Amino acid sequence: MQVFTTINSLQLALKIARTSHTIGFVPTMGALHEGHMSLIKSAKKKSDKIVVSIFVNPTQFDKQEDLTNYPSTIQTDIELLESESCDFLFIPSVKEMYAENVKAKSFDFDGLDQVMEGAHRQGHFNGVGTVVKQLFEIVKPNSAFFGEKDFQQLQIIKKMVEKEKFSLQIIGVPIFRESDGLAMSSRNARLTDSFRKEAPFIYETLQKAKVFFGMNSALNTIEWVEDVFSKHPTLKLEYFSIANETDLKTATSTNPNEKYRAFIAVFAGKIRLIDNIALY
Ligand code: PAF
Repeated sequence: MQVFTTINSLQLALKIARTSHTIGFVPTMGALHEGHMSLIKSAKKKSDKIVVSIFVNPTQFDKQEDLTNYPSTIQTDIELLESESCDFLFIPSVKEMYAENVKAKSFDFDGLDQVMEGAHRQGHFNGVGTVVKQLFEIVKPNSAFFGEKDFQQLQIIKKMVEKEKFSLQIIGVPIFRESDGLAMSSRNARLTDSFRKEAPFIYETLQKAKVFFGMNSALNTIEWVEDVFSKHPTLKLEYFSIANETDLKTATSTNPNEKYRAFIAVFAGKIRLIDNIALY
């Protein structure tokens, strides 16, 4: 695996690779786990060469504390990527990506960013859009792979690709879960032992909500989940939402021809966990 820290050196290597190979790209913020490895495995099925980036993007954090505490495990990450036969690793500095202007650009995502994560994390998706757009311009991949755990992010990136007219395919990869159902996330490493034991309750509730939704309205399902969490001794529900999968609009009434998904954000102490489930 070749490791690059500057845009120019990566672009030079990719220019050569691109002449005879397709490029699959997996952007990450590091602290890699099996969920990331599943993105790389999907990328390998579709691409000749794999580029992974590790960059903890400051402009997508709404809380400085979250950015400061974001886990960094660079040596283990490199070993994992080598074991997955990743071809190119890009680890730029903040200066390399932003020069002196560490600011997010403003995007029009047709309202996809106004709900759920976007409503609770000020400026988050402008930060994601800024860095992903720049990474796409640098790497110029044929396809890029994103986890469905961040389903709203996935839809927003598809929207950006459409609006900015990038010629690349965005591929969503199903959520990778621990054996007890907890969605894999770099944040899981920061859970205390007791919160780690409680956290599978999130996916258990999502599964029950899916069954409940099969026999009840979206509104009743939301009320049911809110009630279940209000009785939980430690986990605090931030939001539970049922939305149309494509435009992420809240489902007030449901149409049998549309696909819906349930989205959840929960605080386990100071750690914020998100998850979602297809309701079809
Ligand atoms: O999902 C992530 O890890 C980040 O939001 C991404 C896409 C790498 C952009 O910083």
